[in-house]
Amino acid sequence: MASKNILVFSFTFIFSQFHYSTAQIWVRSGYWLAGSDFPAADINSALFTHLICAFAEVDNSTYQVFIPSSYAQNFSVFPSVVKRKNPSVIPLMSIWNGQASTGQSIRGDPVNPSVLSSMIEQPSTRKPFIDSSIKLARLHGFLGIDLFWLWPNSTDLSNIGALLDEWRAAISSEATNSSQSELIFTMAVRYSPSLQSVSYPVDSIKKNLYWAHLVAYDYHLPLKEKFTGNHAALYNPSSNITTDFGLKQWLGMRMPANKLALGLPYHGYVWTLVNPKDTSVGAPASGPGTTLDGSMGYRFIKSFIQNYGYGAKPVYNSTYVVNYFIVGSTWINYDDVETVRAKISYAKEKGLIGTNVFAVINDDNWALSLAAAGVTDHKSKRKLLLIILLPIAFILIVVATVVFYRRSSLFKTKKGDAGTIILGNRTLSGSENLDGNAPTIQAFSFAQIQAATGNFSNEFKLGEGGYGPVYKGKLPRGQEIAVKRLSASSTQGLEEFKNEVSLTARLQHVNLVQVLDSAVRGMKRC
Ligand SMILES: *[C@@H]1O[C@H](CO)[C@@H](O)[C@H](O)[C@H]1NC(C)=O
Ligand SMILES: *[C@@H]1O[C@H](CO)[C@@H](O)[C@H](O)[C@H]1NC(C)=O
Ligand SMILES: *[C@@H]1O[C@H](CO)[C@@H](O)[C@H](O)[C@H]1NC(C)=O
Ligand SMILES: *[C@@H]1O[C@H](CO)[C@@H](O)[C@H](O)[C@H]1NC(C)=O
Ligand SMILES: *[C@@H]1O[C@H](CO)[C@@H](O)[C@H](O)[C@H]1NC(C)=O
Ligand SMILES: *[C@@H]1O[C@H](CO)[C@@H](O)[C@H](O)[C@H]1NC(C)=O
Repeated sequence: MASKNILVFSFTFIFSQFHYSTAQIWVRSGYWLAGSDFPAADINSALFTHLICAFAEVDNSTYQVFIPSSYAQNFSVFPSVVKRKNPSVIPLMSIWNGQASTGQSIRGDPVNPSVLSSMIEQPSTRKPFIDSSIKLARLHGFLGIDLFWLWPNSTDLSNIGALLDEWRAAISSEATNSSQSELIFTMAVRYSPSLQSVSYPVDSIKKNLYWAHLVAYDYHLPLKEKFTGNHAALYNPSSNITTDFGLKQWLGMRMPANKLALGLPYHGYVWTLVNPKDTSVGAPASGPGTTLDGSMGYRFIKSFIQNYGYGAKPVYNSTYVVNYFIVGSTWINYDDVETVRAKISYAKEKGLIGTNVFAVINDDNWALSLAAAGVTDHKSKRKLLLIILLPIAFILIVVATVVFYRRSSLFKTKKGDAGTIILGNRTLSGSENLDGNAPTIQAFSFAQIQAATGNFSNEFKLGEGGYGPVYKGKLPRGQEIAVKRLSASSTQGLEEFKNEVSLTARLQHVNLVQVLDSAVRGMKRC
């Protein structure tokens, strides 16, 4: 009988849909930086599915992965510490190319021979790297390994396919040998698979990685460009340097969407405008503002707005999907809650596996991560509604048909009601108006820093770093600061100092405040 067939069909439909929806997990991963003063115990792990402990390094003679001794304790306790608030969070260990090479890559400077470049050249140097990475991850209780390599050049990328093949094979065989579940395997990749004649081996990436983290930020930097630019825009009608363009390139090269996690920067950039009245994207700028390279963590941007905003409000621009804060000649673009929500809706719509935060330590009271967790998935809600409604509709039709045929001998046809369900389409965007009359803010001067730190007096001294002493201080409006002064006698040069600065935004935390005042005055650098 026809009605029986319809019933069987509708139940099959229910099960196939349930199977499909439970198989999909929405990844919310984030980097934490060992050596920051943001304790891993303070991470709200409930807001994440995967937390990545950064960074393990590679020995330049043995090519073995190791944890710098000063971070050993932080790495060994990380997996158990993050599981306290969320027992199901998955801890990963991330490996990078060291501070110097990573700093140079971020600035776009040519990278001197790097340890990863030497390691990747030969199978005999890849093996100790791979084997030691697995051993080290297991030793400390990590359930996955991540490679954070900014940025391999074309020579490196011609070998990276082989590295990933061998690495994944070793990961699989180690799992079999040890009867444990396989370590998760991820890697950070550029927002676009081919840039400046450099192309990623997409086949190897999709075959070997569980997924890749799209580094979808740092597109325009105030140290490099004398024009304001969006550093992490989703769209731009007049430029291809956007996340949407890069993602489409990846998908166009047959990278599966569900093997990509969208990078969410928890930092922004500050430009100093040449003309405070010209605040457009592409307006002339004289360079970075407020910090040495213009980078600023979200938490610091929020406190900057409070301390120096004089009531001006951030603006959300849904054309680019970016937030701006403009006051006087200070022009900041960053991701606030509106931007984060819009990017997550976008990532879900494109079928990505999830998102990746860089870095969790820059959030402000978890405002961004809470906003990220709060984005409802319209697509799966709709799917759930279909899963529930469709079988009910089928059953009703079957029942109605049976009833109709039974009664058709007695009654004439009666017209039924047709109901329409309209699913709402809530917009997540909104924009605020900028207070155009905001007064010009004062730039930090050397004299102000002298005043704030009691002329670098011992009383204000917090400690001594590799480059020189670090002082605490207080600005006139009450903001607490830390000032790092590069001592004239420091054996470490400006180059190392620049590398540290390049990483500042990404490594910012409570006591490592923005590097203030970039000028190198005689032998005094601070
Ligand atoms: C890292 O480990 C050191 C040494 O045990 C500890 O003092 C410090 O608080 C840890 N840092 C963080 C951010 O957890
Ligand atoms: C290798 O690492 C050691 C210790 O970090 C360092 O002193 C040395 O300069 C490095 N060698 C090269 C060739 O980079
Ligand atoms: C890539 O970088 C390595 C050093 O890290 C260098 O030896 C090699 O020549 C570079 N290749 C290209 C094409 O620039
Ligand atoms: C797993 O065991 C096989 C056979 O004993 C060995 O060849 C292989 O190297 C082992 N793999 C790892 C990663 O230890
Ligand atoms: C963007 O890229 C496409 C295809 O590569 C090209 O045709 C187009 O001219 C580019 N647009 C801009 C604004 O650069
Ligand atoms: C975003 O900014 C651009 C450039 O200033 C402007 O043309 C566009 O109208 C803005 N979009 C919104 C939604 O405000």
